[in-house]
Amino acid sequence: MKKFLLALAAACFMSATACAAPTEITLPTVSTESNLSVMQALSQRQSSRNFVDKALTPEQLSKILWAANGTNRDNGKRVNPAAMGVYSVEVYAVTKEGIYLYDAGKHKLNLIAEGDFRAVTTTGQDFAKRAAVNLVYVETPDAWQSARHTPPPREGQISSANILVGAMVQSVALAAETEGLGNCVRGSINRDEFKKVAKLPDAKNILLAQSVGFTK
Ligand SMILES: Cc1cc2nc3c(=O)[nH]c(=O)nc-3n(C[C@H](O)[C@H](O)[C@H](O)COP(=O)(O)O)c2cc1C
Repeated sequence: MKKFLLALAAACFMSATACAAPTEITLPTVSTESNLSVMQALSQRQSSRNFVDKALTPEQLSKILWAANGTNRDNGKRVNPAAMGVYSVEVYAVTKEGIYLYDAGKHKLNLIAEGDFRAVTTTGQDFAKRAAVNLVYVETPDAWQSARHTPPPREGQISSANILVGAMVQSVALAAETEGLGNCVRGSINRDEFKKVAKLPDAKNILLAQSVGFTK
């Protein structure tokens, strides 16, 4: 086993492509099975900051992203409620491998930037650098173009996005509890740097981050 790991490390060192982050990650179908009831998860919810640097399993990552912004009905509507059904908040998953944008319709992740950018999701809280995944919630005003009725003025759009993100982070917190994972909602984000590395256009607004991962 030790030999295999050493060989793998050497291969990665010699060939950048051998260990490249996948450009797409198709997430496994979400399991809604849990030994923890919603009420138990609520009673356990709290912020954790004692993360250890250990990746989530694909099943855990799937569950967390689905709770954040997944669809839960055939009509494409989602786990979390949104004003006028306009889902104006996108979720970026920042892992050790890269920055990924979650595609809710296809339940997959698309690579935006390769590399470990977890430090860029914080202004200096070291625990974020160890969390398996930092979710970054980004308001995307373009989403209102899909509204069936006249969209609210900009102020109302921002307010709706902030209410939506509140539901999203709480759903993730509860899903994390069912997996024995810690989470911490964070407003302190290096917004300027993250905008650059995630190639976000100026019109998009970074609302909140949430660290999720194994804890000590
Ligand atoms: C909008 C918002 C922003 C927050 N920002 C941060 C943050 O930047 N860093 C942090 O460590 N915790 C942050 N928190 C977590 C709060 O500090 C935490 O929820 C609060 O102290 C209550 O503790 P509890 O979550 O364990 O109940 C934030 C929470 C919210 C709702």
